[in-house]
Amino acid sequence: MEKRQELYAGKAKSVFATDDSDYVVLSFRDDTSAFDGERIEQLNRKGEVNNKFNAFIMQYLSDAGIPTHFEKLLNANESLVKNMKMIPVECVVRNVASGSLVRRLGVEDGMELTPPVFEFFLKNDALHDPMVNEYHIETFGWAKAEDVTKMKALTFEVNAKLKKLFADAGMILVDYKLEFGLFKGEVILGDEFSPDGCRLWDAQTRKKLDKDRFRQGLGGVIEAYEEVAQRIGVPL
Ligand code: C5P
Repeated sequence: MEKRQELYAGKAKSVFATDDSDYVVLSFRDDTSAFDGERIEQLNRKGEVNNKFNAFIMQYLSDAGIPTHFEKLLNANESLVKNMKMIPVECVVRNVASGSLVRRLGVEDGMELTPPVFEFFLKNDALHDPMVNEYHIETFGWAKAEDVTKMKALTFEVNAKLKKLFADAGMILVDYKLEFGLFKGEVILGDEFSPDGCRLWDAQTRKKLDKDRFRQGLGGVIEAYEEVAQRIGVPL
């Protein structure tokens, strides 16, 4: 597989073409962004940690029967993935109240959510990723109704698998964001799953082990990501 020209540079990852139009290279950079890209900093080793973390989780989900774009790790910072048509919607599941849910609804931070809350957001930094619902997604043509149903079902399947994976390693999966795309007409999981896109708390102490350390200036960001990786057995 030969890596070719850069197709797209996001806030933390870049996408490169390959000599096979069905596959692209996902390159994880050390850039770390928050507040819709208003704050960007370089964090040493972040690209490598997230690439390896994501590879582990995507493989774990694939093995559990969830279709993903992940093919294989290429090197420390790069993975080979399927070239999907991304659906510009973020799927969020919340098991515990935190972040924007607390700000929007004034509920208590740390409150257990039964049943878990599901939310869609439009991927649009200029509009600050507004919350949308199934009707917006269908009416504006961001995805077909049947694909919306599929994304939702897959996001909950991921919740069942990952809540247990992290619980068995002494952590609470507070919430997370997933992105999906279409590959040969099928909805599959894309983007990444890493501590950049979820909240993870130590089950005993409730210490934050995710990107909130960066957002809130708590320090020890990569050390926390590495601790999570080590606890669930990601080879770094
Ligand atoms: O900010 P909010 O509380 O809505 O985030 C919910 C979850 O989705 C968090 O785990 C956060 O890290 C993730 N998220 C993300 N990318 C975004 C928005 C939220 O990874 N653009």
